[in-house]
Amino acid sequence: MIAICPGSFDPVTHGHLDIITRAAALFESVVVAVGRNSAKNYLFSTEERLELVRATTAHLPTVSVEALDGLLVEFARRHGAGVLVKGIRFASDVDFELQMAHINAVVGPVETVMLPASPVWSTLSSTMVREVASYGGDVSAFVPDVVARRIRQKTQGMEQANG
Ligand code: PNS
Repeated sequence: MIAICPGSFDPVTHGHLDIITRAAALFESVVVAVGRNSAKNYLFSTEERLELVRATTAHLPTVSVEALDGLLVEFARRHGAGVLVKGIRFASDVDFELQMAHINAVVGPVETVMLPASPVWSTLSSTMVREVASYGGDVSAFVPDVVARRIRQKTQGMEQANG
């Protein structure tokens, strides 16, 4: 079965990569769907987020990465995927994901599999990574090197632009 790993990936973290790697071990192939949540302000553009997810999953032969534009269930249908894989950290993730799983099961229909985040990444979020990075903090423990470098370039560029 083909699986979809959806998210904003702004930026992709070790927590995301852990879930993608584990999904690739469970399913025939995985399509990472790099989407846009209208409620969020992004640090990286869709093109940059795609490029960073592609660079950090290049070693996984059954994983591909595509932009998500529109409904996730339509994306799943286009890719012949029967399951969405979601990483779960806290109870609040479960509450939110249950609601989406139920609606996607009807609108799709598509199944949802929730994988518990590995303990080491179980409280990590891109939001926190962006917050620390925006003050010039070191986020290299939480993201691959290529992502840490791009964050540094981006935040230095923003500091210069803001004078
Ligand atoms: O990492 P995020 O921000 O939780 O990812 C959210 C994203 C982009 C995957 C989500 O907003 C999404 O699936 N958007 C596509 C529209 C859709 O199908 N929404 C879910 C139906 S309730």
